[in-house]
Amino acid sequence: MMAFETNKLAWITGGGSGIGKALATALADLGWHVIISGRTAPKLQALSDNYPLIDYLTLDVTDKDANIGVFDSILTQWGCPSLVVLNAGAYTPMPADHLDLDLIYKLNSVNYLGVMNGLASVLPAMKAQRKGQILLMSSVAGYRGLPDAAPYGATKAALINFAEALHMPLKKEGVLLRVVNPGFVTTELTAQNDFKMPAQISAEQAAEKIIDGLDNDSFEITFPKRFTYILKLLRCLPYSWYFYLITKLTGK
Ligand SMILES: NC(=O)c1ccc[n+]([C@@H]2O[C@H](COP(=O)([O-])OP(=O)(O)OC[C@H]3O[C@@H](n4cnc5c(N)ncnc54)[C@H](OP(=O)(O)O)[C@@H]3O)[C@@H](O)[C@H]2O)c1
Repeated sequence: MMAFETNKLAWITGGGSGIGKALATALADLGWHVIISGRTAPKLQALSDNYPLIDYLTLDVTDKDANIGVFDSILTQWGCPSLVVLNAGAYTPMPADHLDLDLIYKLNSVNYLGVMNGLASVLPAMKAQRKGQILLMSSVAGYRGLPDAAPYGATKAALINFAEALHMPLKKEGVLLRVVNPGFVTTELTAQNDFKMPAQISAEQAAEKIIDGLDNDSFEITFPKRFTYILKLLRCLPYSWYFYLITKLTGK
């Protein structure tokens, strides 16, 4: 089923809720042993109690040393996962009339630097065994700047850019670095949106799409395509056209 060699051992950060939780349970249903991480132990514990194939290790991804500690613990107890999903993330909209520096720092430390911490802890072992797949959970919000999502979108754009830069060099070392760019998925994260989210899908549908995507070694897994391909088209437009259209579409 998978294009890459797998030992059916996965590590998912932010695995206690939303997309991470749906992915962890879907993989466990397929016989994977999944280690989930997050800050809130009771959420992780509840999931682990219900799924014998799910274990958990608490982790704040913003803590560089803790990332290394958790991954070392995974290596010692279970070995090197063939799939790592650096999924933990946070989102708060920022109205364009107020530059919220604290929010910018927070989203950078979780969504961008938190993913870098995870990546740095995982890469040495994956490179040593010359195999493994790492998914960075980005977003279509990283394709182009969106009003009210500037700090969030910038972190996701950074992940895409970073992964683009390292995709080919790491492939030569046997490690597949990819991005996942979902559209709108129903989770706690999007519950705070006060607008109608087009083409919204459930976390379970998102997990299914991610698992389907494991079947190939393309750079990007994106869904639902009926929505994300429109955003891809917007990405190709010249700035003047893009700004005209995005103002029309969002009224901002
Ligand atoms: N929902 C969407 O429409 C959508 C679209 C595109 C991309 N995404 C991305 O998908 C990922 C998952 O989001 P979601 O929608 O499933 O939202 P969610 O249910 O809020 O999940 C986010 C997870 O990240 C964990 N987390 C947050 N800060 C953390 C930290 N400092 N250290 C460790 N874990 C942390 C949370 O657990 P704790 O609070 O317990 O730590 C939570 O389990 C995010 O990266 C998000 O940006 C979501």
